[in-house]
Amino acid sequence: MNISENNNPFSEYWYIACESKDLKTTKPLARTILNETLVLFRDSKGKPIAMQDRCPHRNFKLSKGRVEDDCLRCPYHGWKINSQSVVIDVPAEGPHQRTVKARSTKKYECLEIDDFIYVSLASDITKVQTPFRMPKYKEPGYKTVRLFNVFKNNVLNCAENYVDVPHTVFVHDKIFRVSRQEKVEATVERVNGSVIIDYQKETDNLGWFSWFLNPKKTPIKHTDHFHAPNITSVEYIFGPKREFYISSHCTPVSDDETHVYTDLTFNFGVFNAFAAPIVRYQGQAVIDQDIEVLNTQMEVIKKYGTHFQNSKADIVHVLIESVRDEIKEGRDPKALPYKKQHFEFWI
Ligand code: FES
Ligand SMILES: [Fe+2]
Repeated sequence: MNISENNNPFSEYWYIACESKDLKTTKPLARTILNETLVLFRDSKGKPIAMQDRCPHRNFKLSKGRVEDDCLRCPYHGWKINSQSVVIDVPAEGPHQRTVKARSTKKYECLEIDDFIYVSLASDITKVQTPFRMPKYKEPGYKTVRLFNVFKNNVLNCAENYVDVPHTVFVHDKIFRVSRQEKVEATVERVNGSVIIDYQKETDNLGWFSWFLNPKKTPIKHTDHFHAPNITSVEYIFGPKREFYISSHCTPVSDDETHVYTDLTFNFGVFNAFAAPIVRYQGQAVIDQDIEVLNTQMEVIKKYGTHFQNSKADIVHVLIESVRDEIKEGRDPKALPYKKQHFEFWI
């Protein structure tokens, strides 16, 4: 793995900086990824541009300036920086100035996929794997509700939470699941940098959702995925006619802040037409409960440090941590040995 200049191996991935609709040709947008402050805008052809949010002159924030002729104009002394991040106008030098290559700021690669703007901080973009595609997005028969949320916690704890089943009967009691002290069996696999959990004999224990997600109580196929370094994808398939995908992309802002882009994508057949507002309302209600838990968890961690003890059901989290630890050490998590384990727990 080729570690980029900022020496953080997590830089070697694509992260969502914003939704496509938030990036304009008229106004710069400020974002932070892995503590790196960025300014983004679109050129007149619509191409997304990202660079370090730092004017090369006296280090003012370019995001506080304006977009002008596909360039950024710094509001402090008016230096103009083009889309290649090179300074092309220094008003104080008058009409006969030369463009000096050395006067530039740092530029980053952008991608626009699935109505998201991705940025990578990698030093060698050719080595960065393509971003995870949000499942079924804009496919015929599927609808997507897109949510954005800020968590005051890190990517690891957020991702763990999204594929953590035991908390659902406590934190989301009655909304998402109902506690029945039923045994759940599952198999977890660590394969190719991902952790995949296959739940067996899942019941209709989906609380409030059951009436339209699974009215005939057909067996549910429930599979959760964690894809390194920051994606979780939860899949529910109810018989041949209903599907529900909860995909979350965690963008690390800093050690204690994560921006989470969640796609709730569903195919509920005839219910598609009216399901979106219900899915949005219920989905956000569940996430609001998780935000409260995760924000509180980080308060405790900041005071006492991270000291986790595990139950048997936490094998999922142990494997997710093993994948992220591998990246932290600068190694490729895909090279970790294959692992498969059966486990059971009660909810
Ligand atoms: S700090 Fe940007 S022009 Fe001077
Ligand atoms: Fe939750």
